[in-house]
Amino acid sequence: MTNRFSPFQSLWRTGLAALAAATLLAAGPARAEVFPDRPITMLVPFAAGGPTDVVARLIAIPMGKALGQTVLIENAVGAGGTIAATKTARAAPNGYTIFLHHMGMSTAPALYKKLSFDPLKDFDYIGQVVDVPMTLLARKDFPANNLQEALAYIKANKEKVTLANAGLGAVSHLCGLIFMSTIGVDLNTIPYKGTGPAMNDLLGGQVDLLCDQTTQTVPMIKEGRIKVFGVTTLNRLSALPNVPTLDEQGLKGFDVKVWHGMYAPKGTPPEVINKLNAALRTALQDPVVTKRLADLSSDVPPLDKITPNGLKTHLEAEINRWGPVIRKAGIYAD
Ligand code: MLT
Repeated sequence: MTNRFSPFQSLWRTGLAALAAATLLAAGPARAEVFPDRPITMLVPFAAGGPTDVVARLIAIPMGKALGQTVLIENAVGAGGTIAATKTARAAPNGYTIFLHHMGMSTAPALYKKLSFDPLKDFDYIGQVVDVPMTLLARKDFPANNLQEALAYIKANKEKVTLANAGLGAVSHLCGLIFMSTIGVDLNTIPYKGTGPAMNDLLGGQVDLLCDQTTQTVPMIKEGRIKVFGVTTLNRLSALPNVPTLDEQGLKGFDVKVWHGMYAPKGTPPEVINKLNAALRTALQDPVVTKRLADLSSDVPPLDKITPNGLKTHLEAEINRWGPVIRKAGIYAD
């Protein structure tokens, strides 16, 4: 019997079949009983080397060990974290795409007039991850040695002082806004794709000030590579006991701590979410992770918060908390 297809056509059909199988494998529904049978991608909304990336890489290894598969990090940067959130919302809901984001997930709905995802409709929730304080920093040769001197210099030189941030929706942006409104001064703000690159410019002296998380800043402060004018929480930090709070230095009520959560696209099977949640809980109890986070004065939330419901409830409360504040301040992107 003769073959009805030329060798080229056979090859083409075989190729198509392989492509279809590969596509199904990549985008098809998760088979919860075999999940995971290939690497998982954790999307991170800011640049490599910055605070969110530090947390992601710290937990990716023990999560991968618990799941028996590698957890790869993909930095999908830009637009204050909304690019990665959109990418997650549109990914196949099969557990192979997960997303680590901070409280920007709760400020985005008020900050962005047009948002291509809904934090309360387009995601399933894996659990809360870590709570991280911030620090107010300056380049090493900034002409002030403490907050009072810094405030005097800033007020006298407000046209030329620059404040770096990671864009609208970033916590460095939020912290900077709170700082400027508390002291009643508007500074020139310089946006970056994350506080990793912003920190590089602070170290290089190209920008003056930055408000950033301790997950990135503690080592640089201890090495004396940057100046620190205060911590953003009401209590001093164990990692930086000699650094006063902004509150105790007169910026009364200054209290910013950054919470993080882990998400999956809406429709991810509950069994898969359970496996991811179990791996996250294991990672957050790993002694290497807890020691490193403690060294950075960052807190693992209580176990009842490292749950899908713990994250969802917190996210809803935070959207309700920040929405009115942001709308009142009139800050938004078109
Ligand atoms: C980062 O990872 O670069 C920061 O979390 C960005 C930010 O300030 O929100």
